[in-house]
Amino acid sequence: MCCYNWNNLHFTMKDLYIVGNWKENKTVDEAISFLSEFTKTYEARPNIKVIMCPAYLAVPQVSAFVKSNNLQVEVGVQDVSKFSEGAHTAEVSAYEASEFANFSIIGHSERRSRGDTDDDVKTKVEMAIKNNLEPIVCVINENVPVPQGTKIIAYEPVEAIGTGNPDTPENAESIASSIKSKNSQVQYILYGGSVTSENVRSFTEKENIDGVLVGGASLDPKAFSSIIKAC
Ligand code: PGA
Repeated sequence: MCCYNWNNLHFTMKDLYIVGNWKENKTVDEAISFLSEFTKTYEARPNIKVIMCPAYLAVPQVSAFVKSNNLQVEVGVQDVSKFSEGAHTAEVSAYEASEFANFSIIGHSERRSRGDTDDDVKTKVEMAIKNNLEPIVCVINENVPVPQGTKIIAYEPVEAIGTGNPDTPENAESIASSIKSKNSQVQYILYGGSVTSENVRSFTEKENIDGVLVGGASLDPKAFSSIIKAC
């Protein structure tokens, strides 16, 4: 009997991004313990790019661990300054971040609610691109402006973040398809908001959803590697 479902095969083989956003969590020691545990269960897959975004202080050590253990993981940061280097106390420039990271989340709703405007997001995306960081721009719906040069969008409805109440895969798919049709430059749309190993596949199997941005469940090495395995 035939056992291939070519539709499913297509969906499982498309390129996927799985981003772990640790937010304001984990000391350097805790980050390294996470990675040591994570390597025991993580199985890299050719079509899946895994991106870990630690808090800034842990970024250099996470990057060093990834390189020295040849871990198939990319390092990202959670934000960059909208300024170039200079007299901007407490800011970290995209140039400085690019020493260790290849990606940056930009415009997360937790940053927007603390003051980041659409214009700030646009400037940060420009800074990121100029310094070879691939921006992952977060939007809460299809009406948020997408800055020029953005290839990866994370659709994250605020009410789904950290609540255990994810959006429905059908609604996320319809928003993703609308964002893609409005912005031809966008190649990948990730869904974010209460993603777990139980629900991840219901999102990634949708035609226009190309991965997930994971907060809470990315803090636990087993939970995060189960998400990667399940999608
Ligand atoms: P959550 O967070 O997975 O904990 O809902 C997602 C995010 O804020 O990126």
